[in-house]
Amino acid sequence: MALDLFKEKGTPVERQSFTWKDMVRRPYSKMDDDAFTRTRVILMNGIEADALRMKHIFARRSLELRPHLALVRRAEHHQQTLVNWLTPPDQKVIETTLGFEQLAIEVTASVAIHEPDPYLAQTYRFGMLEDFDHLYRYSALYDRLEGQDPNNITQSYTDIIPGRPTSVEHRHPLDDLRRPYDAKTAAPLSKLHALTITASEFQTHDYYMTVGPTFTDPVARQLYAEIASIEEQHVTQYGSLIDPDESMLEQWMLHEAMEVYNYYSCLAYESNPRIKEVWQRFVDYELGHLHYVMELFKNLERRDPAEVLPRELPEPIAFKEHREFVRKVLSQEVDMRSDGTEYVDKSQLPPDHRTLMYQAQMNSEGSPSETAAAGYKWRPGTELAAKAERMGSVLEGRRLQ
Ligand SMILES: [Fe+2]
Ligand SMILES: [Fe+2]
Ligand SMILES: [Fe+2]
Repeated sequence: MALDLFKEKGTPVERQSFTWKDMVRRPYSKMDDDAFTRTRVILMNGIEADALRMKHIFARRSLELRPHLALVRRAEHHQQTLVNWLTPPDQKVIETTLGFEQLAIEVTASVAIHEPDPYLAQTYRFGMLEDFDHLYRYSALYDRLEGQDPNNITQSYTDIIPGRPTSVEHRHPLDDLRRPYDAKTAAPLSKLHALTITASEFQTHDYYMTVGPTFTDPVARQLYAEIASIEEQHVTQYGSLIDPDESMLEQWMLHEAMEVYNYYSCLAYESNPRIKEVWQRFVDYELGHLHYVMELFKNLERRDPAEVLPRELPEPIAFKEHREFVRKVLSQEVDMRSDGTEYVDKSQLPPDHRTLMYQAQMNSEGSPSETAAAGYKWRPGTELAAKAERMGSVLEGRRLQ
């Protein structure tokens, strides 16, 4: 089912219309839908938020592009609304948070596996181990606040154990920058990957910044502040993979191709037919955006989009568990650190390294992620289940006597 980006023209921008009713649909079910439906909604909301963000920044920079950006941006906004409003009202903020981290782990794992450039793949594995630890810290918080098992939300697709500890993820800003891909030689897939993960991390950051102060529990307030800071680091890291020498139109065109690719991936894996229909419609809308920008690229830059875009879309991003891969990376790379743009073992950082100084300062009055998880060990069904289990073995023991 490979999709030809040049042949498939999708829905023209002028025919992309909405009504309030169409935009505000019946949400998915928190419990009955697959956990990956939740992660897809979280991802596509983030991708659309980034489509808006980029178009606003470019509009500030170009009078020529401004009307074109305004036209396409309105569609992106309404797409984002429709997608984000699929979130069910009974899904608590901490539960959405678990969805964000599960998404970060599984999608970054898929990207790391398919990334052709070894340095970029290393970067995805590096970041993945950090979001993996966030899932564990937020699971501890979920137990603390709600007394609930995180697997109600993650549906046991993803392990709930420590990764690279959040308390050591705090790096000096200069140790979060990475070497960008070279736009002239990089595989188109590498560009789509970098744009996808940057968008997704940006939304994670913005979500934590919005909801963090809504908690009463002081550990929750601190934990969101701490992890939001890492998400800012992740945006710095992944954003720096993008070649700054690409023109605005080139980046815009790639962004639209990335949006097509993401909806197309959602479509390939979606199990809920009502939501599948949304992904199909938005594949067509994004193809409409892409062709709109391809025309601009030809007319304004006098360049051929085929220089930049892949002919066919790559294999879809895999919305599935990557447990074996994640465990392997965890066992081999958890002690990796970064020094400038390069990766080193933690033993190679001198004690006065700027990142260690920065970390010592940030953690000098305590570490929320350590406090939140103190004494927490995930077990099925939380502590109540453990109690019931103990009761069970007592009864079992009696029966055997
Ligand atoms: Fe995270
Ligand atoms: Fe992250
Ligand atoms: Fe778009």
